[in-house]
Amino acid sequence: MTGKKIHILIVDDQPESRRLLRVIFERHGCYVSEAVDGQDGIQQARRERPDVIISDALMPRMDGFQMLMEVKRVPETKAIPFIFFSGNYLSPQDSDLALALGASAYILKPKAPEVIWGEVQRCLSQARGCQEVGGEAIDATHIRKYGMVVAGKLEEKVAELEREVAQRRQAEIRLTALSRSLLDRLEAERRHIARELHDEVGQALTAVKLNIQALTRTPQTSGVAKIPPLVDECMSALDRAVQQVRDLSLNLRPSMLDDLGFAAAVRWFLEKTAGVSGIAYHVLGPDSRPPALLETTCFRIAQEAVTNAVRHAGPRNITVMLTGAADVLELTVRNDGAAFDVQEAFARANAGGSFGLSGMLERALLAGGTLAVTSSPGSGTLVRAVIPLPSRDA
Ligand SMILES: Nc1ncnc2c1ncn2[C@@H]1O[C@H](COP(=O)(O)OP(=O)(O)OP(=O)(O)O)[C@@H](O)[C@H]1O
Ligand SMILES: [Mg+2]
Repeated sequence: MTGKKIHILIVDDQPESRRLLRVIFERHGCYVSEAVDGQDGIQQARRERPDVIISDALMPRMDGFQMLMEVKRVPETKAIPFIFFSGNYLSPQDSDLALALGASAYILKPKAPEVIWGEVQRCLSQARGCQEVGGEAIDATHIRKYGMVVAGKLEEKVAELEREVAQRRQAEIRLTALSRSLLDRLEAERRHIARELHDEVGQALTAVKLNIQALTRTPQTSGVAKIPPLVDECMSALDRAVQQVRDLSLNLRPSMLDDLGFAAAVRWFLEKTAGVSGIAYHVLGPDSRPPALLETTCFRIAQEAVTNAVRHAGPRNITVMLTGAADVLELTVRNDGAAFDVQEAFARANAGGSFGLSGMLERALLAGGTLAVTSSPGSGTLVRAVIPLPSRDA
């Protein structure tokens, strides 16, 4: 082989591993070719007759052991030194089997470049010293050992995957609980701020207004000509402020949702959105009130579906219905306006383009339910959420 470059065939399904070995061997002046699995490796070995094969053990389609058996079976490739370079088959049985099948060396990943190169050189000079580098004749015992090695590896991989699946499931459960508690806190916070605005700020403004009114009627001020215009201005500014505080408070969390329930709150919301735009609306509520948290979930979904209908569809009618069977609540929000591409809108929403659609879906899922949106020209859009009710004995 003097004067001729040493040809090394690298067989590995991981591009990073192949690149690392290529760098090492090319630095030592070798010619390198690559194969991505055992099958590919066998074909290249037959075609190219390399001086050495260095192969991974665990690969798709055909692993290193099968490839080694095939290389050693065929006369044209039998004499090529075969080195295992494995990060997966780490036990002594694995290397014993490989050596018994005719491998010249068994290197465990990771190894320093000089160690790998040293092994390649050792195997090459060993091969030059003897004509045939073959293993023991392959018999049923080898096949059985190989079967055991592979089965052991599979069991390990399955256990590893099961651990990963269990960890992911735990993470999902934690994430769901976190999102649910965030939504609950958001709702509690809104209720608190709405109440503070209404009861504290609203009452204080009303008190100021009443005091000013009383002042204008006292004998000392009632005759002063300059006061009335200023007082009038103050009074109307106060009226506006009281109204704004009231609206803000209701928008944050309509008190009628707590006091009167879903249908009253949705009717109020429809009036100030659809009603003022001249859209006819119809509301049907359940016979009895659902649990407060689910009622809030349904109200928030209906609120977004109505807003979307008014903002995007230009309908003539919007109908909101909440019905409760023994074990589920069914909420539908229907509008007869323009249709839209639901799949595309969800894809945009999921990519962070908007919040409404994904927010409705998330609320339904967090309540253990489902949400579907269908839209077609001529029929308009239907948002339908089905949410399970907690069982009575839960
Ligand atoms: N009922 C509807 N009728 C027609 N188009 C709709 C309807 N609902 C949603 N869309 C379309 O889907 C898009 C996404 O809706 P989504 O509610 O997620 O976002 P948005 O309403 O644009 O903004 P926001 O995040 O404030 O809700 C809308 O921009 C609109 O194009
Ligand atoms: Mg929206």
